Amino acid sequence: MTTAVTGATGQLGGLVIEALIERGVAPAEIVAVVRNADKAASLAERGVEIRVADYSDTAALTSAFGGVDKVLLISGSEVGQRIAQHTNVIDAAEAAGVSLIAYTSVLAADTSGISLAPEHKATEERLTASPIPAVFLRNGWYWENYLGSLGQAIDSGVWLGAGGDGKIAAATRADYAAAAAAALITDDQGGKIYELGGDERLTYAEFAEVLADVSGKPVVYKDVPESEYAAILQGAGLPDFVATMLASADAGISRGELDTDSGDLQALIGRPSTPVAEVLRSAL
Ligand SMILES: NC(=O)c1ccc[n+]([C@@H]2O[C@H](COP(=O)([O-])OP(=O)(O)OC[C@H]3O[C@@H](n4cnc5c(N)ncnc54)[C@H](OP(=O)(O)O)[C@@H]3O)[C@@H](O)[C@H]2O)c1
Repeated sequence: MTTAVTGATGQLGGLVIEALIERGVAPAEIVAVVRNADKAASLAERGVEIRVADYSDTAALTSAFGGVDKVLLISGSEVGQRIAQHTNVIDAAEAAGVSLIAYTSVLAADTSGISLAPEHKATEERLTASPIPAVFLRNGWYWENYLGSLGQAIDSGVWLGAGGDGKIAAATRADYAAAAAAALITDDQGGKIYELGGDERLTYAEFAEVLADVSGKPVVYKDVPESEYAAILQGAGLPDFVATMLASADAGISRGELDTDSGDLQALIGRPSTPVAEVLRSAL
């Protein structure tokens, strides 16, 4: 049984490969599909097979999937290009005759209003139309998305956002990676849709309380409208499209679109998700 992981030199991809090996998959049965072989040196040293293919190159992807049974398609990071890129990956998997595609999507991809959702929805639709069985790993937000803002929040005493009193069921990349690995090594995954989020479902006000507790400094949540939040992020130097995307995600949080009580993550990984306080403590 050979499993290919795309985006293998990315943060999630590397963690998925670690999680597969931890779960007893032999490195020689893992194919890391990367666009830059130099970045994959440490994977090669562990005995993982490296194959080079860009998401834009269907022919290279088809040969990268030669002899592969299962493919984990990790969504690309080039927002706006992803429908074409993911379609190439799926075309290639079909041409190579793989038996299962797992795809890292986003929570409630078919109904979510956040700006990142349409590319995930379109990819899921392409997969549904494929003769290859597919499993959707609908990941929630990463807690890591927030770590770069902790210092400023602690210094200013304010956690700023546009999430209203919506709950967010985030989890660490490592927990999502463990869930992906668990799905990949389990039989009969075709057709399954996992809504993946952490066990602690927090509003931003509650998140600010945890941050205050862990840091020992007062931090309170201040909510602003989506457009004002985007403008603040732009003013802080973020590129326009990133500021707009983050503000859109916060608006989604206010509507409950990055929340889930499915229990799917815990069921797949066989343990509770990593506690938020632990994530913040190690970040600080
Ligand atoms: N749920 C969330 O909160 C959240 C947050 C951020 C991102 N995401 C999504 O989850 C994915 C994985 O997250 P991550 O943290 O692992 O992101 P990441 O570290 O940026 O990894 C993205 C991976 O995609 C690869 N890639 C991008 N464009 C490619 C192309 N044209 N051809 C081949 N490979 C390409 C990158 O290759 P290189 O290593 O060569 O750069 C990298 O390995 C992201 O790509 C994004 O779709 C989710």
